[in-house]
Amino acid sequence: MRERLQKILSAHGAASRRAAEVLIARGKVTVNGQVASVGDSADAENDAIEIDGRPLSIRPEPITILLHKPRGVVTTLSDEKGRKTVRDLLTDIPDRLVPVGRLDMNTEGLLLLTNDGALVQTLTHPSHEIDKEYHVGLKSGDMDAAARALAQPMTIEGYKIQPAKTAVVRRDEGGGGVVSVTIHEGRHHQVRLMCQQAELEVVRLRRVRLGPLSIEGVPYGHYRKLTPAEVKKLHPEHADT
Ligand code: URA
Repeated sequence: MRERLQKILSAHGAASRRAAEVLIARGKVTVNGQVASVGDSADAENDAIEIDGRPLSIRPEPITILLHKPRGVVTTLSDEKGRKTVRDLLTDIPDRLVPVGRLDMNTEGLLLLTNDGALVQTLTHPSHEIDKEYHVGLKSGDMDAAARALAQPMTIEGYKIQPAKTAVVRRDEGGGGVVSVTIHEGRHHQVRLMCQQAELEVVRLRRVRLGPLSIEGVPYGHYRKLTPAEVKKLHPEHADT
């Protein structure tokens, strides 16, 4: 497939599109031995593209997985205690994927894994305020009061968190139920610590949404690949490539 040279260079991680244009304009890029000009196209698979005489490195196809993490599985690639890891669940994915952020061992739900380093950086950067919605199963009490309590301003481990958005999802007869809690930050154990502070006993914690992505349709313990359009929505940089 023929594409603009600057797009190929940025897709291979050689430079941003703008920096790639500068490299081309300076005569640093050759295609099949010929010095390229700004605006030239090439075929990344069939043409020999070099920058300063060095071949464009092959970057693996970016892949991002949405895993419905089960309870009792650790968010790591290998565990020294021999516990089951999220990597063990990705049975037919040969690539080395890393988790984007983490869920506690006993938290279930939506977890992304990817080989796209830029996506990890974007999603885990503190300035990236992506909504994370959790369903919190509570053992007892009035769910309306619990939702109100979890929406209060709180200071967790000395850090003033942004107030959560909350809503009642389910009220069980005799007390308890499920409250939806949406936060922006992703501090370790944030939702559990918020519940502790509100004196609520958590029986189940599940992440059901991350920005535009929902866990719906992905069975417990299973996963699916994100489409390029879904990745674009998560990652403003991708809108440019
Ligand atoms: N908050 C928690 O307490 N645990 C998680 O795994 C995620 C958010």
